[in-house]
Amino acid sequence: MSEEVKMLTGLMELLPKRIIFHNLETAQYMRIILRMMGKSDLERSLIWKGCSPFDYHDIGKAYIPEDLFTYTERFNITQEHVMMAHVHHGQQIFREIRKMNPLAGGFAEAGEMIALYHHECYDGSGYPEGLSGEAIPFLARVCAVANAFTGMQRDSVLLPSRSFEESLSVLEAHAGTWFDPEIVDVFVGETLKELKTERELRRLREIKSQKPAEVFIPDSIDESELDALFKQNIQSNSKRQSIKKTSRKPG
Ligand SMILES: [Fe+2]
Repeated sequence: MSEEVKMLTGLMELLPKRIIFHNLETAQYMRIILRMMGKSDLERSLIWKGCSPFDYHDIGKAYIPEDLFTYTERFNITQEHVMMAHVHHGQQIFREIRKMNPLAGGFAEAGEMIALYHHECYDGSGYPEGLSGEAIPFLARVCAVANAFTGMQRDSVLLPSRSFEESLSVLEAHAGTWFDPEIVDVFVGETLKELKTERELRRLREIKSQKPAEVFIPDSIDESELDALFKQNIQSNSKRQSIKKTSRKPG
């Protein structure tokens, strides 16, 4: 393992487990968003020595005093500033990596942009620089959505966790103010479409698993057909109705 990777891994291990998990979960949502935007290849070009810059947006929290992670009240202004400094610590970590190994170029640069700017808001009300719109680097805008989405689904000191759907609604409510509206549109739109498809598939599976005496679905419709039908999204409402009709045992 190279010195730089050892340093990153070591810093990651200093973090409380829930923050390590949050880093990795946010990275997963960044991948989902980029896939939905047709930009899956972007990450591949940034991977260096097996590390993705997506995995470390909150790595700077390794330099935050431990007691702030277990603090159960609202932060005072000083504590708030200490916590906010994690974006600068993150920036420094990636700068250090670039210094140690100039070949880390794209990886370190992306890591730095994500770590430094993931708390910027689209309308300029975020930190550390109050950048707005497209002046915020693209990957940091993606990370802002993914970070908020994963954060909302966990209890925090100030707020209880939100459901998956509620979290999507919050993203929508703040599209254009906190978040890049185009990224929110794609993420929320595509996610809801996938959820709907998944639910319909689950509903049909439930119907199919009931006793044949109560509900009858012709044997000619099997699981893989249903899967194909719904995954490809070619099922129109009228077709769905007709499956429902024929699936009822006459009499
Ligand atoms: Fe953060």
